[in-house]
Amino acid sequence: MQASIEEIHSTALSEIETAQDAETLKALATRYLGRKGRLTQFLRDIAKLPPQERPAAGRQANTVKRELEKRFAEALAQAENHAAAHGEDAIDVSLPGRPARVGSLHPVTQVNQQICGIFSKLGFDIAEGPEVETDYYNFEALNFPPHHPARDMQDTFFVSDGIVLRTHTSPLQVRVMEKTAPPVKTIAPGKVYRCDSDLTHTPMFHQVEGLLVDEGISFGDLKGTLTAFIHRFFDERIRLRFRPSFFPFTEPSAEVDILCVICRGSGCRVCSHTGWLEILGAGMVHPAVFENVGYDTSRYTGFAFGVGVERLAMLKHGIDDIRRFFESDMRFLSQF
Ligand code: DAH
Repeated sequence: MQASIEEIHSTALSEIETAQDAETLKALATRYLGRKGRLTQFLRDIAKLPPQERPAAGRQANTVKRELEKRFAEALAQAENHAAAHGEDAIDVSLPGRPARVGSLHPVTQVNQQICGIFSKLGFDIAEGPEVETDYYNFEALNFPPHHPARDMQDTFFVSDGIVLRTHTSPLQVRVMEKTAPPVKTIAPGKVYRCDSDLTHTPMFHQVEGLLVDEGISFGDLKGTLTAFIHRFFDERIRLRFRPSFFPFTEPSAEVDILCVICRGSGCRVCSHTGWLEILGAGMVHPAVFENVGYDTSRYTGFAFGVGVERLAMLKHGIDDIRRFFESDMRFLSQF
């Protein structure tokens, strides 16, 4: 008996040691500890021993039983863990993780920041104002009298009587001058709204307004400032021209064109075969606007300009449809 329990103990341990998987271990456990298992059989046979040998043999057999039960449980747990880590459904912890995608600024935001950055370096402050605006600031104070045909240039969204969605950032000229005595050197970026939608127009778009007022400001200052801006924004070599135009709040007024970035002046679909692309409106602040804000027109002159942010972004990046900016298509946006 003595030899036999020790033999069962050691063969069981070495078989557990060499078992490769959970299935084999379970079969082994049955073979030793099951109802007809070797150890169970041994425990039963203790009854056949002489009475004085039974207690010692029983103690020894029970110790071996407890130990084997423990070893089987440990080995089984280990085998199952190993299967979870290395089997078919295993999680391979050595694979590289999925990288978190880093976002980027919207191209319109980027161009807006570039425009503001250039004018900040030229010494301009930045101002902001409301998108829901009164008729007074959007039109009247800018020298658009009621029923003036120039109001038709802007396809206005009316909110209620006397309240509109601002059609341009020019109301900021008036708001800034009402609060500040000259000299003034300010730009005002923001959203503007017009009831218009096609390849080159969206109902909401962005403008940056500029205003500089001081003693002795001339059209030469306007040309120099805008030329410096356009050279920095596009390229030192870009050609531009100032073309006479009309805005109620400036006199004289001009529009600035750059040589078409697509055809370089020879004429193409993008520039309607003129060779030039309009990029902004500008002019010398009309004395009527100064009078509305109480500025002394005999002492101060100034210039103003308004540029379309999407328009500059389209020209800089060769984008032919303004609606791309507002479709939230990651394939488009992630290129910037
Ligand atoms: N507000 C004009 C528009 O949206 C653009 C503009 C023209 C702004 C001339 C100006 C300016 O400040 O002087 O069409």
